[in-house]
Amino acid sequence: MHTMTTPSAHLSNVDAADLAVDALAATGLPDAVLGFCAVHLGLRSETARITEYVDAGRHDDARRRSHLLAKVLAEHHRAEDELLWPALVRRQPGIVAVTDTLEAEHELLDEELVALADDPTRIERVADLVDRHLRAEEEHVLPIWLASFDHAEHERFGRQLRRSTPAGSVGLMVSWLLDVTPESLRPFAIGRLPRAFRMAHQMCWRPSFDRRYGGSPH
Ligand SMILES: [Fe+2]
Ligand SMILES: [Fe+2]
Repeated sequence: MHTMTTPSAHLSNVDAADLAVDALAATGLPDAVLGFCAVHLGLRSETARITEYVDAGRHDDARRRSHLLAKVLAEHHRAEDELLWPALVRRQPGIVAVTDTLEAEHELLDEELVALADDPTRIERVADLVDRHLRAEEEHVLPIWLASFDHAEHERFGRQLRRSTPAGSVGLMVSWLLDVTPESLRPFAIGRLPRAFRMAHQMCWRPSFDRRYGGSPH
C-alpha cells in the first residue's frame, strides 16, 4: 500500500520558484525521489542559465557553467545506471528495455556535454536533448519507482545512494543543488540535509563552489 502522491507526468512545465514548501512537504515523497526531481529541475534551470549567458555574450560564464553541467549530469547518470535502474529491473524485469535506452542516452549526452564545454553555443541542441531525456524518465520510470518501492525500501535506497556518491562529488552536488534551488525553497532544502552536510556546505563546499562556478549570492 503506497500513500505517496505521484508527481505530474513530467516536470518540464514546473517552475521550482512556484513550488510552496507546504505543498512539497505534503507530497510525502521520500528524500531520494525529491532529490531526483530536484536534480531534474536543476538541470533544466542550468541549461536555461547557459542559454541566457550565451545570448548575452557572456562566453566565459557559459563555458564555466557548461563544465559544471557536465559534472553534475555525469554524477546523476552514474547514480541512475549503477543504482536506480538495476533496483527497478530487479522489481520489474520488463522495464529493462526502457532503462537500456536511457543508459544509451546517457552516453550520448555525456559526449554532447564534453562538446558543449568547448563550444557553449551548442546549448540549444543540448537543452533539447536533456529535456527530452528527463521527460522520458519522468513519464516512464518515476511512476514505476514510486509504485514498486515501499517506505523502507525508499529509505534504504536513499542511504545506499548517499554511501555510493564519491566523496569528491558530494560537496559539488549539494552546492549545485542549493545554488539552483530558488531562494524561497532553500531553507526547506537545507533542512533535508544531514547536519554534517549543512556544516560542510557552509564552511567549505559553498565557498569552493562559488570560487569555481560563481554561484549566485545567497
Ligand atoms: Fe538519466
Ligand atoms: Fe534523471
